[in-house]
Amino acid sequence: MSKIVVNNPIVDINGDEMARVLWNKIKEELIFPFIDLNLLTFDLSIENRDRTNDEITIESAKSIKTNKVGVKCATITPDDKRVKEFNLKKKYPSPNGTIRNILNGTIFREPIIVKKIPKIVGHWNQPVVIARHAFGDIYRSKEVFTGNGGKLKMLYEHKNGIKEEIDIYDFKSDGVGLAYFNTFDSIKDFAYSCFNFSIKRNFPLFLSTKNTILQKYDESFKEIFDVLYEKEFKKEFEKKNLLYQHRLIDDMVACLMKWSGGFVWACKNYDGDVMSDLVAQGFGSLGLMSSILQSPDGEIVETEAAHGTITSHFRQHQNGKETSTNPVASIFAWSKALKHRAILDSNNQLEEFSINLEKFCLETLNKGYMTKDLALMCGPDQKWITTNEFFDIIVSRIKN
Ligand SMILES: NC(=O)c1ccc[n+]([C@@H]2O[C@H](COP(=O)([O-])OP(=O)(O)OC[C@H]3O[C@@H](n4cnc5c(N)ncnc54)[C@H](O)[C@@H]3O)[C@@H](O)[C@H]2O)c1
Repeated sequence: MSKIVVNNPIVDINGDEMARVLWNKIKEELIFPFIDLNLLTFDLSIENRDRTNDEITIESAKSIKTNKVGVKCATITPDDKRVKEFNLKKKYPSPNGTIRNILNGTIFREPIIVKKIPKIVGHWNQPVVIARHAFGDIYRSKEVFTGNGGKLKMLYEHKNGIKEEIDIYDFKSDGVGLAYFNTFDSIKDFAYSCFNFSIKRNFPLFLSTKNTILQKYDESFKEIFDVLYEKEFKKEFEKKNLLYQHRLIDDMVACLMKWSGGFVWACKNYDGDVMSDLVAQGFGSLGLMSSILQSPDGEIVETEAAHGTITSHFRQHQNGKETSTNPVASIFAWSKALKHRAILDSNNQLEEFSINLEKFCLETLNKGYMTKDLALMCGPDQKWITTNEFFDIIVSRIKN
């Protein structure tokens, strides 16, 4: 079997713990034997981020920007315990946040649907893709305790010096207040990412806000999306028979429960934070959730599994025990990155390989060969296999 030749590189970001073990196995067993590929590898293990004062994270993001395709393994975001465990110079920020800021992208979280695996919400038989606008709102807000009474006001000083003062509330006793913001540039980039993703994914797009209450703030999200849709995306959406619609967040939540999936949901920052966890639970497993960071123009893509470094399994692995860790979301991170490279390079063989890789994983799971996390969801009679056994099956499927 001759190897598929890939002319342009993929940026490979390695990570930590059990996710790193899976990562190396995917490359050694599922990629290198079949694809002649130039990988630009960045080691984002916590030790190397510490050694390079986190410069390696910035370099990796710049490389994705240049080469347009990246695939990232889960990494530790250190808390106080991790700072102690690895004797770190400081508590480094989440690499995902750093990379996202440099690529100015939107994260799309999509569940991998497997017929055999029961879902908590049984009728969700197509993916619900959550797009979260990860800028501003409460995450960049300023808060105040009002003490025992006083006036809360908002002051906006225009560039030309004109001041606008708005009375918020006249407190008679203890209370709290907050202020937050967003920018039209960021909302516009978010809208571009969402429209481009929907077209590529061939799914309708829904934006949710509470514009009946926030008639300037949330209405701006709606207007920016509406204007962009009319000006740049309507024709393409209509050609593909795709729908774009704004809905109130409460209405959208009700639709989520009624519908069977198969759409992209553009969420404001806090809504996306909450809804992505709700949807992940509804579909049942973190081990079956993939994540794509995409630039506004849809050209730059970084893929990953949504789960973390699976520390408890890594402890077993360190003790020499074989684990039953689910590699499917990490394999899909690779298949999606390969697919994006294939589309950019018009490489049909590579595209076919990426599609087959996903197909083989799904067929294997549907035949009842699965890791323990998924077997537990199927019930007490479902047998489970180790990670090594799962890889062996996939390798033999690719070879035959
Ligand atoms: N994208 C990322 O890089 C990312 C995301 C989340 C957490 N993290 C990091 O991962 C580390 C561990 O975090 P956590 O425990 O909150 O999240 P986790 O996703 O590693 O684990 C959460 C739970 O789900 C289970 N689980 C997750 N993926 C699984 C898989 N593929 N197969 C079997 N079981 C699986 C784990 O055993 C655990 O019980 C932390 O240091 C955190 O900073 C990284």
